[in-house]
Amino acid sequence: MILHEKIAEQLPAWRERMKALAKEHADVVVDHVTVGQVVGGMRDVKALVTDISYVDPAEGIRFRGMSIPEVLKALPKARGGKMPLVGGLYYLLMVGEVPTREQALEVEAEWARRAEIPDYVYKMLKSMPKETHPMTLFSQAVLALQNSSVFAAKYHEMKKDVYWEAALEDSLNLTAKLPLLAAFIYRMKYFGETKKMKYNPRQDYGMNFARMMKVEDKKGYADLARLYFILHSDHESGNASAHAMHLTGSTLSDAYYAFSAALNALAGPLHGLANQECLAWLLDVYKKFGGVPSRDDLYKYAWDTLNSGHVIPGYGHAVLRVPDPRFTAQMEFAKKNFPQDDLVRLADLVFEVVPQVLREQGKAKNPAPNVDAISGTLQYYYGVREFDFYTVLFGVGRALGVTANYVWARALGWPIERPKSLTTKMLEDIVAKAKQAVN
Ligand SMILES: CC(C)(COP(=O)(O)OP(=O)(O)OC[C@H]1O[C@@H](n2cnc3c(N)ncnc32)[C@H](O)[C@@H]1OP(=O)(O)O)[C@@H](O)C(=O)NCCC(=O)NCCS
Repeated sequence: MILHEKIAEQLPAWRERMKALAKEHADVVVDHVTVGQVVGGMRDVKALVTDISYVDPAEGIRFRGMSIPEVLKALPKARGGKMPLVGGLYYLLMVGEVPTREQALEVEAEWARRAEIPDYVYKMLKSMPKETHPMTLFSQAVLALQNSSVFAAKYHEMKKDVYWEAALEDSLNLTAKLPLLAAFIYRMKYFGETKKMKYNPRQDYGMNFARMMKVEDKKGYADLARLYFILHSDHESGNASAHAMHLTGSTLSDAYYAFSAALNALAGPLHGLANQECLAWLLDVYKKFGGVPSRDDLYKYAWDTLNSGHVIPGYGHAVLRVPDPRFTAQMEFAKKNFPQDDLVRLADLVFEVVPQVLREQGKAKNPAPNVDAISGTLQYYYGVREFDFYTVLFGVGRALGVTANYVWARALGWPIERPKSLTTKMLEDIVAKAKQAVN
């Protein structure tokens, strides 16, 4: 299988590099950690390694060294669409090289072979109470699939150096099933449809998803799905969902357990929910003014939001200091495909006005838009208007990056994570000692 072959070729050299770092340079200091970081969510503590993606504060995400515009340009496109094949992106994340069209299609074919979902998973989903949150259903379904983990089944007979092969099998089996699962949950929860779904091997990942979601404009939505899954795939290792997957995987839990943990982290309002909050804010503006407001009205509305003690969703970022290139890519998509849509025009006006308001307020370190400033608007345009489903979409995309990281973590033999804790008193003592040293 193509991904197996390509990773196996690279492994000896990567293992040598890791070995040198762990054995010969283990004492080299990377950075120092402040009290502020210890009590502040470990922000910016440099304690993780990944070669899959890197968030440059001045530029945004790079996948395997490539910026978003470079990725969108270089990857082979889906037949009949303008966006890349998702299989090509998975190849890039896993292998670190831009695939040929044939290589990207090989990944797509692997997915098509593995996309079957066992009956008991459908049964379990159907038996859940109607009001269950779609993220709960999604995470439960992933966990239910753990029965078929190759890694778990082979664990006792495998040597450590081949863990990654079983991890890759699980990752392909899992990612293959996610569009089906997500679309089934969507149709079941909001439309009461419980018929089993089928993945079509003649269609790519994006088109399969669009067809199963049954949106009216399948072709346009397939392109958006491809773009959306690609843009949401990875954002370094430190974000909550990626880190949850990494931590869980480090105990040698299999990809199903680990990805279910990642989804549970994504479900939190501080992580995967911001896109729906942003869309809700846009819709509130639209409703209040009966359409797209004037620049002045919007300026005042933005200030009212801030003065009422709320944040303006979709703006600001913990790491980035420029407009998120994932925002820019989606805005370009919208302007190319449906520039006259009122919500797109409104999102564009917000982009003109809000950074100025945030700059005047002077608090946000980054007054520019993040990925969430537009992503809900695009789903809304295609008729996917059930806000609580948006995190599921994010989850399908996020699986691509976190499973690539998971496979490489097993390949390079990353150990179980175990940071050290202190008591509050110990921390206070450290502060007192530091003060004494200064005086
Ligand atoms: C993304 C976010 C959580 C980053 O937080 P952060 O790293 O603490 O951001 P900053 O360091 O720039 O925050 C400094 C101050 O500016 C404020 N600020 C940042 N973004 C803001 C926004 N969009 N609207 C209003 N105030 C904002 C913060 O609340 C903070 O205020 P405080 O000092 O009173 O606590 C923050 O920008 C935010 O809440 N944005 C809106 C929600 C959102 O879009 N979330 C999706 C993130 S991908």
